[in-house]
Amino acid sequence: MEELVSLCKRRGFIYQTNELYGGMQGLYDYGPLGIELKNNLKQAWWSSMVYERDDIEGLDSSILSHPNVLKYSGHEDTFTDPLVDCKDCKSRWREDHIDNNSCPSCGSNNLTDPRPFNLMFKTNIGPVDDGSSFAYLRPETAQQIFTNFKNVVDSTSRTLPFGIAQIGKAFRNEITPRNFIFRVREFEQMELEFFVEPGEDEEWHEKWVDERVLWWGKQGVDKNSLEILDVEDKDLSHYSKKTVDIMYKFPHGLEELEGIANRTDFDIGSHTKNQDDFKINAKVKKNEDSVTKLAIQNKIDNTWTIPYVIEPSAGVDRGVLAILNEAYKVEKLDDGKERIVLSLKSHLSPIKAAVIPLKRNNDELVSKALSLKSTLQSLGKGRVLFDNAGNIGKSYRRHDEIGTPMCITIDFETLDDDSVTVRDRDTMEQKRITVKEIPNYFEESLL
Ligand code: GAP
Repeated sequence: MEELVSLCKRRGFIYQTNELYGGMQGLYDYGPLGIELKNNLKQAWWSSMVYERDDIEGLDSSILSHPNVLKYSGHEDTFTDPLVDCKDCKSRWREDHIDNNSCPSCGSNNLTDPRPFNLMFKTNIGPVDDGSSFAYLRPETAQQIFTNFKNVVDSTSRTLPFGIAQIGKAFRNEITPRNFIFRVREFEQMELEFFVEPGEDEEWHEKWVDERVLWWGKQGVDKNSLEILDVEDKDLSHYSKKTVDIMYKFPHGLEELEGIANRTDFDIGSHTKNQDDFKINAKVKKNEDSVTKLAIQNKIDNTWTIPYVIEPSAGVDRGVLAILNEAYKVEKLDDGKERIVLSLKSHLSPIKAAVIPLKRNNDELVSKALSLKSTLQSLGKGRVLFDNAGNIGKSYRRHDEIGTPMCITIDFETLDDDSVTVRDRDTMEQKRITVKEIPNYFEESLL
């Protein structure tokens, strides 16, 4: 993990938040390359969910959430971790992070009994901070999908089965954030809530587990690095009838990358008004505040159904960590030296190609390079970099380390015959092709 963390900082993928003031635990910032990688990952998810299918709509809802949303969702009562205090060094721990009843910080056995600690952040709304008007920072993006269920159905005329996808920030006051961006207090989720007829839920659940494993494969996560975990009944969230976790072999151990839950009719049943008018199978809190009926009408027999929900929920940050870990390689070269290479799938690479003039202060080379960069940039395939460092060897190493699939070098031969050198990141092979051929070559290499 240290090597990866060091690469992330050195090359501008991920920095610790507010490091100049000592940092803040469990918070990270994405640098110039990190934001490109993260955006590319989110775009790949969005395309696979919303563009490539015809049964899913998108949503972007607010982060600040009405307290009633988290009351009826069950989060106020149950979204807790058992917290243990060390009476000697005053550190705080999640009970399941303590081995042999001894404090991980000072080793003392002088610990308090575990007590529940709610993980939600609260904030005041409006100018008066007397606790009367507060909101939660959402702990999952899912809830605002449920509260928008009727809006989306009414505006799109969807019938079951269909889904609503959302990517966005979620906040959890984790007791022990750890392992770089694996467990943090502010993170992003890519969540799909897929609404189905009761009775068809188990079949859809299986389908989504298969879909999601395939998708991670397309992002470069080897199937041998994944394990499928059937979550034991005692560990299920309060809303879940069955959850399958896609576990990834992170550098610190096998842990959850994505969870796929069968949330039954719990969520829509919890947030609807007039609950007694429906047959709701899940155990829901009596809702005395909702003003909206959340059921969906069957267009054939006009009956109203509270749908079941299948939820594939993936962490963007955990995805970035898994993808970086899969792609990171240290290779021995023929001359005995080593190179670090990030063998990212090209659709995820932060930089799609680097255009490099052999000499930084040669106007003709620089102007050719700038013109080619601009041509490639206009193809809309992602960021193309004009790299004017003036040291071709160093540029190649840098682009290997940040996962740029292709380097294009403009040299003095280019001025004579309009040919350039193209170097492949993975094979390090170099070949000459003409500037005219480059756009096609570039586009094909990104497929
Ligand atoms: N809506 C369901 C839900 O939120 P979850 O298993 O608590 O379920 C879903 O979270 C995903 O969000 C996890 O699989 C993980 O990838 C990510 N995630 C959860 N807590 C996280 C944290 N503290 N830091 C980073 N990612 C987290």
